[in-house]
Order: sequence, then structure tokens, then C-alpha cells
Amino acid sequence: MNRNKLNPSPASSIKQTLKNCQERVERALKNCLPPADATPTRLHQAMRYATLNGGKRIRAALVYAAGAAVGADDAALDAPACAVELIHSYSLIHDDLPCMDDDDLRRGKPTCHKAYDEATALLAGDALQGLAFEILAHDATTPTGAAQRLKMMEALAQAIGSQGMAGGQAIDLESVGEKLSLSRLEDCYLRKTGALIRAAVLLGALAREDVDHRLLAALNEYGRAIGLAFQITDDILDVEGEIEKLGKTPGADQARNKPTYPALLGLDEAKARARALHARALETLKPLEDNGAFLADLAGYIINRIQ
Ligand code: IPE
Ligand code: IPE
Ligand code: MG
Ligand code: MG
Ligand code: MG
Repeated sequence: MNRNKLNPSPASSIKQTLKNCQERVERALKNCLPPADATPTRLHQAMRYATLNGGKRIRAALVYAAGAAVGADDAALDAPACAVELIHSYSLIHDDLPCMDDDDLRRGKPTCHKAYDEATALLAGDALQGLAFEILAHDATTPTGAAQRLKMMEALAQAIGSQGMAGGQAIDLESVGEKLSLSRLEDCYLRKTGALIRAAVLLGALAREDVDHRLLAALNEYGRAIGLAFQITDDILDVEGEIEKLGKTPGADQARNKPTYPALLGLDEAKARARALHARALETLKPLEDNGAFLADLAGYIINRIQ
């Protein structure tokens, strides 16, 4: 088994391993974000505010877990872990804007445009996106070669563009008030949320230069299953969750007539679908044998939030 700090021994709990990942990416993010007192200070403060504010860091953990699963060098994983969390923070800032979901609370604090202003929030999102690619392109502290970096950048760019996250957000917005078919809703989720989660898994694996293409294919399927499960779970929590735990206002989807799995199928069937995707995710990890332990735990963590 590729055992290191990031691929836990059977005895260590998922909570502890996740905490290690959170602390590690938190440190790396603090270092890569421009200082709050650098010009333009308001923009840099907004970027730090919206990134260093206590996210669960699931996407970073997926980078570390996938990297550990294929035996990548630990030191090669901080750059992709930061890149996916920076992109995620950017997506949340924009997702919360009045022209999108118009939310006031994020990670238990006022959303970026509430704490600053809309223009600053928009620009903070733009700048975080650029920074993510800058870090993948150049990070003096990581041993990853240029060819691997390019592959990571391509995978990330595809995941967040019009065929991926931005496209999914477009479908989400144009579908408000409509009853989508299940296959269209699934397609929307795979793009708006699933694509970045899948990219996190792939970027971790791509940190190893000679990664086995069979393992890469298995991880791709794993990422697809948990990416979809993640958004279904998020929707269920929007119905059943509590503001204190979520750090965002529940009930927002229904209030805005969003197309969601619970709205289309009912809560029980939405939960059944999430559980089936969890089972599917575990199935996809079989070729990784024991090396997939942390990834399996993360799939459980995602799904257990609704149980
Ligand atoms: C929330 O993601 C947005 C979705 C894609 C559903 P997370 O639940 O991972 O948010 P943080 O990073 O922990 O705040
Ligand atoms: C967010 O989906 C997807 C992206 C940010 C790309 P949601 O709109 O459901 O996320 P929350 O519930 O606001 O975190
Ligand atoms: Mg949204
Ligand atoms: Mg939202
Ligand atoms: Mg949501």
C-alpha cells in the first residue's frame, strides 16, 4: 500500500486524515494568495476573505487522496490541491452574486459581495481563477514536470469551462422554474459540480508522471460518481440541514424554484440515488485495492452528511 501521511492506516479516522489535509492546504493557500496589504488591497483582502474562511476542503482532500492512491510524490500535491480550492472559492463567490443565487451567507459569514461589494466580488473570483492556473504552471516548491503540469491545466480548464462548471451553472440558471427531465438534471449536476470534483481526483493522479491509464480510468469513474452524489447531497441538505452546520441558508433552492433532485424525485428517492452513487464509487475503486482506502472514506464522508 502507498502509505504516507495522506493515505491513512486502517486505524486512523477519516476525520483525522481530513483534518491533516485541511491544515496542509490551508497553509499552502495562505502562502500562495497575495498578501492583504499588497496593492490593490481591497481586491486582495476579498480574495483572502473568500478563500481562507473555513471550507471543508473536500476537493483538496480528493487531490491528496488520489495522489496517495497512485503513489504520487507528496510534494507534488499541494499545487493542484490549492488550484482546485481556488477555483472552488471563485465559483462560490460568483454563485452567490445577486445575478446568480443571490445568497447572503457563505461558510457562516456574509458572502463576498455583502462583505465587500459586487464589483470587488466579481473581480476576486476572476483573480482566483487566474491564480489557480498560475500555480499549476509554476510553483518552485513542487517537483512536477512541465508535461504533467500541462495535463493538469488542460483537465482543470476543461472541467470549469462552458462544457463543465460554467456550462452547468448556465443550465442551472436557465432552468429556474422549469421541470427538467432526470437526464437533463443529471447532466447539469455533472457539469456544475461534478466536473470540478472529478478534476480534483484526476489532478491528484496526474501528479504521478507514469500513472497507469487503467487506474486513471477507474479514478475518472470514481470522480464522476462522487461528483454527482455531492450535488445531490448538497440539495438534500438544503432541505433538511441546519444553518449552523451548513454555514449557508437552507431552503434557498425551494425559495428560488431551483431544479433539484429532491424537488424532482422527492427526498427519499434523492437519498436512494445518492446511496447508489456511493456504492458505485466504491465499486470503481476496486482496481486500486488497499490504496483506495482514503478515497473510499471520502466517498463515505460525502454521503454520510445526509444520514
Ligand atoms: C458547496 O461546496 C458548493 C457545491 C458545489 C454544492 P462545499 O460544500 O464543498 O463548500 P465548502 O467549500 O465546504 O464551503
Ligand atoms: C453550486 O451549486 C455549484 C457551483 C458553485 C459551481 P449550489 O448553488 O447548490 O451551491 P450552494 O448551495 O450555493 O453552496
Ligand atoms: Mg447555484
Ligand atoms: Mg448557490
Ligand atoms: Mg446548494
